[in-house]
Amino acid sequence: MQTTREIRQTFLDFFQQKAHQIVPSAPIVVKNDPTLMFTNAGMNQFKDLFLGLKTPSFRRIADTQKCLRVSGKHNDLEEVGHDTYHHTMFEMLGNWSIGEYYKAEAIEWAWELLTAHYGIDPARMYATVFGGDEAEGLPADEEAVAFWRRYLPEDHILYCGKKDNFWEMGDTGPCGPCSEIHVDLRSDEARALSPGSALVNQGTPEVIEIWNLVFIQFNRRADSSLEDLPEKHVDTGMGFERLCMVLQGKHSTYDTDLFDPARTYLEAKTRIRYADAPHMQQVAMRVVMDHIRAIVFTIGDGQLPSNTGAGYVIRRILRRASRYAFSYLGLHTPFLHELVPVLAQVYKGVFTEVGAQEAFIARIILEEEKGFLSKLEKGSQMFDAWLSEHRGAARIDGQFAFKLYDTFGFPIDLTRLMAQERGLEVDMAAFETLLQEQKTRSREATEVNTGDWIVVHPSPDLPRFVGYDTLAMQTRIRQYRTIRRQNKAEYHIVLEETPFYAESGGQTGDRGLLRSSLESIRVLDTKKENELIVHTVDRLPQEADGEWHAEVDAQTRHRTSQNHSATHLVHAALRQVLGSHVEQRGSLVSESVLRFDFSHFARVSDEELTQVEAIVNERIAADIPLTEYREMPIAAARAMGAMALFGEKYGEQVRVIVFDSAFSVELCGGTHVPRTSQIRLFKFVSEGSVAAGVRRIEAYTGEQAAAYLNSQLALVQRLSEKLKQPASLEKALDDLLERNRQLEKELAQLNSEKLAALRETLAGAFETRGELQLLRRIVQVGSTDDLKQLSFDLKRSAEGRALIVLGAVIGGKPQLSVILSDSLAAENRYHAGHLVRELAKPIQGGGGGQPFYATAGGKDPARLQEAVDKIEELL
Ligand code: SER
Repeated sequence: MQTTREIRQTFLDFFQQKAHQIVPSAPIVVKNDPTLMFTNAGMNQFKDLFLGLKTPSFRRIADTQKCLRVSGKHNDLEEVGHDTYHHTMFEMLGNWSIGEYYKAEAIEWAWELLTAHYGIDPARMYATVFGGDEAEGLPADEEAVAFWRRYLPEDHILYCGKKDNFWEMGDTGPCGPCSEIHVDLRSDEARALSPGSALVNQGTPEVIEIWNLVFIQFNRRADSSLEDLPEKHVDTGMGFERLCMVLQGKHSTYDTDLFDPARTYLEAKTRIRYADAPHMQQVAMRVVMDHIRAIVFTIGDGQLPSNTGAGYVIRRILRRASRYAFSYLGLHTPFLHELVPVLAQVYKGVFTEVGAQEAFIARIILEEEKGFLSKLEKGSQMFDAWLSEHRGAARIDGQFAFKLYDTFGFPIDLTRLMAQERGLEVDMAAFETLLQEQKTRSREATEVNTGDWIVVHPSPDLPRFVGYDTLAMQTRIRQYRTIRRQNKAEYHIVLEETPFYAESGGQTGDRGLLRSSLESIRVLDTKKENELIVHTVDRLPQEADGEWHAEVDAQTRHRTSQNHSATHLVHAALRQVLGSHVEQRGSLVSESVLRFDFSHFARVSDEELTQVEAIVNERIAADIPLTEYREMPIAAARAMGAMALFGEKYGEQVRVIVFDSAFSVELCGGTHVPRTSQIRLFKFVSEGSVAAGVRRIEAYTGEQAAAYLNSQLALVQRLSEKLKQPASLEKALDDLLERNRQLEKELAQLNSEKLAALRETLAGAFETRGELQLLRRIVQVGSTDDLKQLSFDLKRSAEGRALIVLGAVIGGKPQLSVILSDSLAAENRYHAGHLVRELAKPIQGGGGGQPFYATAGGKDPARLQEAVDKIEELL
């Protein structure tokens, strides 16, 4: 049997022999492309090459790419686990031709590899081809059919429609007809009975697609028209997990040796044998085996779980795994993190980022698991509380189920499961309505309508950034467009050459001005969209053609550069003081602040911060000149000691920024001050935690740091004045605090004496109402705690069946408390919660609590007496 490792290697070797350049997988998390969150196909990283926006270094490329299909056009999340061959994260083996070979070679080589090298039986193979589409005005792909006829009999070549055989990356972008290779895995008997051709594209796990050969010849524009590309390309993608399943003679991707280690771990942990487990337990195990890969690879590429964007997608995947394990595998404590070393082993030598960050990734996952499990527990408590308040209810209110889901992250199927266990159902119709409403709201909030570019000066070359050397220049407008975000218009301009730095590597984009002889336009921000440098402007030009003067706001740029250079210095100083485990995890460099996230497991102490600050300020005073290498081979940069960040995509040539080669060497595309002395001053303003094992510092430089220090001094001055300018401010403050503590103690003493006296008086004020001892009073107490204390004390000393209703005005607000003596509570006749809700009506209040004790707060203190007296009526 070929192992999965061998299968992957065979693919890469085969295409290397066909003169392909083997490249590393791009990071799974996509940066700089507003149309895409995660890499969803091997071709993503080559999008600009297909569109002709960038000149290729190689025209034949092959790789194995980490892909994730959980959002946007390609989304398989809800299926994963329920069937035996879908995945969230998967590897895509691919080969590409950038304007070189086309259909003949793509088909020939696919055939050769699958049959001669992998040994798949040709009789089991089917090819689908694009059957044409009238609405698009596209003919059937007879060319591909002709090539397939060389290898396959007529009845193994199938024409299919646009849905299956016209591949598009997203709503816009490169696309074209495709030809898929399907394999029939059924037994010889089954195949003799019915032809596999009838089962292609029918969702049968036994007749599945393994390889998609896309012939890219169009660009789908935003107005949905197809534009011919200047060159034709090949983009193939083969599902690695499925290929392994075919070659290893399995009927599920999860049965291949790729998943053996994770399955073995789960079986040992749960003592459930996967092969014999009931259906839902198998589903849950597949969910875990699949999801842990998606989680580990995205965190490994620098995306931490969070509440927005890509981070939120990861959080949801992690919770889905955690909840399936919780509900079906009996795993109620964190365990996902234990799978990180298992994966590190599986991908050793292939995706080394997992092994290199094993402890870090595990720590992040553990914290997420803990957080989610505690939410599950809180949700369970709320669920029980709801049940006891709604005794006799036949079903769980949709609104409550939605609240559990929305506020506590409590999955709806778990709520249903728990309801089922108690013989209840959930009002799913109401839940679904609320969920849909929420989805519509959030879709509306994030809706972006991107208009097509209006091209003023077409050019095959990408716009050039010249802003390392100049802040002002003459240039021309290459293209512009309008996009609408939540119906607000945003205007974009691309220049032929630009001095504006586009936001990246944590540094914010430049601002400034564009001027022609006729008009002047403000640049509000600059961002990258793939390789394009896009200027967001306050309005579109009336006359775009002609010469434009582009000028960056020099002060903003200077302050940002001060902060960026200081970020490098602080990075180096942190490593000196805390140790070389400190690695950059994120950064923000703007004109007003620098923020730096890094791996470190403890709080950075004040002494450590002082040391780091001192080193940075010493390096500033040393007036170190900037050394910039604009284009250095990446190997040489590493040899100089520059560290690459995980999840960043670096080219062959990199830019290296050095401030003293023995101190700070970094791969960096940002802007910097020419000498460290221009940073002037460095001052920390905060230190805190962002996630498990990730700390964040914020600091100021230059004028901002000076202003900050001055404001701190002024504060001390003001405080000193308030304390009448004592000789020692610190001692004066300590004295004041001490005196305050004394007073609080005395006050507490007085208060408890007062409460005791009140209790004495009230103990004699019970009145008899039938078989009940009733006490109703407005009392004067200082806090709700006192009111509670008094209620409980009175209950304790009360005899027989007693009911105590107290009212008080606390902080201007009316408060009520109802408490039952133990013997009365035991009868279950009165419910304090129900009583207090009725009593609170006159004071326009609400509240609740347990059957024996409940409280309510209200708005109208003038009617408190009425509220307290209402008890007579209720009884
Ligand atoms: N882009 C195509 C796909 O994802 C082939 O690589 O299926």
